[in-house]
Amino acid sequence: MFPPDFNTAAFLRDYWQKKPLLIRGGGAAWRNPLDPDDLAGLAGEDGVEARIVTRTKKTWKLEHGPFKPSRFAKPGKKPWTLLVQAVDHAVPEVAALIEPFRFVPNWRIDDVMVSYATDGGGVGPHFDQYDVFLIQGLGRRRWQVGGRCDATTALLPHDDLRLLAEFTPTDEWVLEPGDMLYVPPGIAHDGVAVGDDCMTYSIGFRAPSRAELVSNWCDHLLDGLGDDDRYADPGLGLQGNPGEIAPDAIARLHAMITETLLDREAFARWFGGYTSAPKNDVDWSSDAPIEPGALREALAGGTALRRNPASRFAFIREGDDVVLFVDGQSFECDGEIAILAERLAATDRLVLDAAAINSDAAIKLISTLVKQGSFGLDLKD
Ligand code: SIN
Ligand code: CO
Repeated sequence: MFPPDFNTAAFLRDYWQKKPLLIRGGGAAWRNPLDPDDLAGLAGEDGVEARIVTRTKKTWKLEHGPFKPSRFAKPGKKPWTLLVQAVDHAVPEVAALIEPFRFVPNWRIDDVMVSYATDGGGVGPHFDQYDVFLIQGLGRRRWQVGGRCDATTALLPHDDLRLLAEFTPTDEWVLEPGDMLYVPPGIAHDGVAVGDDCMTYSIGFRAPSRAELVSNWCDHLLDGLGDDDRYADPGLGLQGNPGEIAPDAIARLHAMITETLLDREAFARWFGGYTSAPKNDVDWSSDAPIEPGALREALAGGTALRRNPASRFAFIREGDDVVLFVDGQSFECDGEIAILAERLAATDRLVLDAAAINSDAAIKLISTLVKQGSFGLDLKD
């Protein structure tokens, strides 16, 4: 992971979204947070996105999970790799890997994919649309990086995998446990396991495409537009040619579009909810929520709030107030609750101070978040 002298500001200035960077860092301090058997177990669960990529002499084969234990009992001799998406949502120790990356805003962070490969295994040369930090967890992997790719880059003919037709590496490194490689979007890369038992943790980021943004923002706007909200021209004047769509009509029509689409405040509020919504519309709410009184008592006793590892927290400012977004829900927060909201969005574990515990508004907010499953109570201390 990051060595103590790692300069985050210099990284953001010189590498983030610009060029790859090898970061040697693990050494003796590194602990692999997940056992390969536990990864295989997760790959067998319904609702967990898992894939196996097998490399044959001529091509690459892709299988989709869930995978039964028997799939791993006789894996075959060809190099293969198992890839499991969003492991941080299920394993708090893997979620903890994200914490050193919080110098990037929460809303830009996606999830942690974990791969396990046998000697020679990998997913083939490719490029991703997103930034990624590839942390070597167990064993060794040779990473090669190449040039920048885009929609015009030639791909191998394959129904399921987007592999590069040509890959010319410009750099290569063998990563040991705890080392990591940062790869910006669009940069060709290929990681091949050197020896068996190779595990890699991909801290993945997200960046909405323009098409996705426009489409979702417009869908949201359409939900709020009624049929009677319509073009009107009570000041209609005489015009020389009835065939003309007159400039003032165009101006009024165009204003109907821009007034709606360009409302920045409404956009910010919509985006907060949109970007913090859980991935698969999951519902973590509890049937037997803790009563506010019992919650206050637990918090006063030093019980910490621990964020659900799959929860997304973000906020926007509106003057001195804050709108907090948690898992697609929004909460208006002013005064001391605004300060609390900022703290809730900043950290994955929090022990509340006396002022917050004594505030009814704070307990109400926390109760709601605990009830919807975004926070759990860490009863350990
Ligand atoms: C891997 O972990 O094998 C693949 C990760 C990547 O290249 O994005
Ligand atoms: Co990749």
